[in-house]
Amino acid sequence: MSGFSLEWLSLREPADLSARDSGLLQEALRWLQAWETPIIVDLGAGSGSTLRALERAGLRAGLWRLVDNDGALLDAALHRHLAGWMLEDHQSDLTVVDELPLGGARLVTASALFDLASERLLENLVARLPDGCGLYSALNYDGDMRWTPAHPLDAQVVAAFNEDQRRDKGIGGPALGPEAVAFLTRLLESRGFHVRIATSPWQLTPQDGNLQRALVTGITAAVADRIPAAALAEWQQFRERTGSCYVGHLDLLALPADT
Ligand SMILES: C[S@@+](CC[C@H](N)C(=O)[O-])C[C@H]1O[C@@H](n2cnc3c(N)ncnc32)[C@H](O)[C@@H]1O
Repeated sequence: MSGFSLEWLSLREPADLSARDSGLLQEALRWLQAWETPIIVDLGAGSGSTLRALERAGLRAGLWRLVDNDGALLDAALHRHLAGWMLEDHQSDLTVVDELPLGGARLVTASALFDLASERLLENLVARLPDGCGLYSALNYDGDMRWTPAHPLDAQVVAAFNEDQRRDKGIGGPALGPEAVAFLTRLLESRGFHVRIATSPWQLTPQDGNLQRALVTGITAAVADRIPAAALAEWQQFRERTGSCYVGHLDLLALPADT
């Protein structure tokens, strides 16, 4: 299951939906509802999980521009939502920021994305936000991951995973990883935005066994070159028996300060 496969995105979506901070989601909704047909640009849209989150929160009208470089994910989003929404699909590379379809947008959204992005990409993006446009970025991994029951290798695995999070993930250069929200906050505040941040952790229980096992498989692959194989295999087996797992995320909503 790859990091961006439909299978993985579908598996994580229920946890993402319950993790999103409802206060920021409602504020984003109010921001959009002040316009009759707001334009929303969802970057790294995948199969449309941000659309579904805002729809579930009560959004009924808007033109969505879904931007992703994966045509199959965009097709899945269109298939699910063409009947109910005005949709544009833009199969584009996010790193070509100058060509992103931001014109007229009321809100630019992203979920599970900006921790994979580079400083340069976020700088270029924020510089290109149209006047009067807000930014809603949900579910950015913040580096805090814990399990119950604990295992002696947990801290080493998390440290190695967080190091891996800074690798180039194909979104403009070395990724910001757990630093993404702090970086973005400084950037947006320096440009006069009013920024609010809230926590949005996954709090997984044994009932989320499939998601936990897929997560552990992904973590194991990510840290394999930093941790001795036998110790890591033992850790993986222990973790696959599933207990509870906390994965920290941060949501951010930035609105123009004079609104
Ligand atoms: C972790 S997924 C998040 C998807 C969706 N926002 C969600 O929360 O389910 C990251 C998304 O960014 C897209 N993506 C990754 N690199 C990209 C790039 N360079 N240009 C455009 N899209 C990209 C992937 O195809 C994937 O859909």
